[in-house]
Amino acid sequence: MNKVILIATTAFGLEKIVKKEVTDLGFKITGVMDGRIEFEATINDIPVTNIWLRCADRVLIKAGEFTALTFDSLFENTKAIDWGAFITEDGRFTVKGKSVKSKLGSIRACQSIVKKAVVEKLKEKYKTEQFKETGPDFTIQISILKDTATLTIDTSGPGLHKRGYRVEFNEAPLKETMASALVLLSFWNKERLLIDPMCGSGTILIEAAMIARNIAPGINRKFVSEQWPVINRNIWKKIRQDALNAVDSNIKLQIIGYDINEKNIQSCLVNARKAGVQEDIIFKKQDIKDLWVDKQYGIVISNPPYGIRISDFKKINDIYIDINKIFKKKKGWSIYILTADEMFPEYFKRTYPDRVRKLYNGRIQVNYYQYYGEKPDK
Ligand SMILES: C[S@@+](CC[C@H](N)C(=O)[O-])C[C@H]1O[C@@H](n2cnc3c(N)ncnc32)[C@H](O)[C@@H]1O
Repeated sequence: MNKVILIATTAFGLEKIVKKEVTDLGFKITGVMDGRIEFEATINDIPVTNIWLRCADRVLIKAGEFTALTFDSLFENTKAIDWGAFITEDGRFTVKGKSVKSKLGSIRACQSIVKKAVVEKLKEKYKTEQFKETGPDFTIQISILKDTATLTIDTSGPGLHKRGYRVEFNEAPLKETMASALVLLSFWNKERLLIDPMCGSGTILIEAAMIARNIAPGINRKFVSEQWPVINRNIWKKIRQDALNAVDSNIKLQIIGYDINEKNIQSCLVNARKAGVQEDIIFKKQDIKDLWVDKQYGIVISNPPYGIRISDFKKINDIYIDINKIFKKKKGWSIYILTADEMFPEYFKRTYPDRVRKLYNGRIQVNYYQYYGEKPDK
């Protein structure tokens, strides 16, 4: 019944974690490529994937894939796809595109051919010459990589990082999808103490609390495909209701966020309240140089200011030294730092990190440095 291949797109470096999320939701993976995970699903699975995937950027329908060496073949292969299975007679649709290392390099020409081919196909299906385009939105993307064209339809609308809880924040906030991945890539679990000593707008800690409470990341937002008649509205309703029922309200979390800037702390409080985790996190204004932690065993996940974006190097190096000072004499602290600054391990003054993951924060290549502390006794 309405079988499709869905694609969860991801930031580079997060493929593994998104693959796990997709598998945990019960889907069969059919392909893993840079920045995308493909899996078998039905149209009716679009709500559950959009509402539950924490680390993916978007969910797309794979409409077709073929070799495109000429504009004619692009037109014919695009026209062969059953666009009317998704796009309504009054559907408003735009075509976006990109082409990498391919013969058909003019993306504007490709976009316009795809648009023409889709219109021709819809004319046949709806037996009309004119389309009003006053209905739901459909964004088609043509991506050509080494002469293979992939056509997709976006089901998410705004990217999945837009959970809807974050107020305006100017100091290089992490995307919620990335923050969530940092937590899932760490050893943190809901029984353990978690600290972000430079928490900015609180994204890492809010995502951690949402993970611990099993709050679906997309529960409070809308998706473009909610307007599509091909997905029964009751399915969206049911998935949202199931997600509400799945929230774990019987846990006590130990999560603390500090930041030097009082305004940021106020943003954290607003964000945490909107995300429904205000009871779970303590936020406090505190300069890291005056921070004192008296507990053993815990997890630090943080992304300090990046020199190239918002601060200067001397200050940043002092911050690294401070983080080390706070935790080096305490037993059992695992430290996870996301930064673009390759000098970090040098100034942090520990032995080599146990693991370094190369990730992308937007367009910036960053490293996720992981230092493991002793595990607490069971
Ligand atoms: C890159 S931002 C963190 C963004 C955060 N992860 C988010 O997603 O919103 C770095 C934060 O470090 C804070 N900061 C800078 N120097 C600090 C210091 N000495 N002590 C504590 N916080 C500091 C800044 O105010 C800023 O909010």
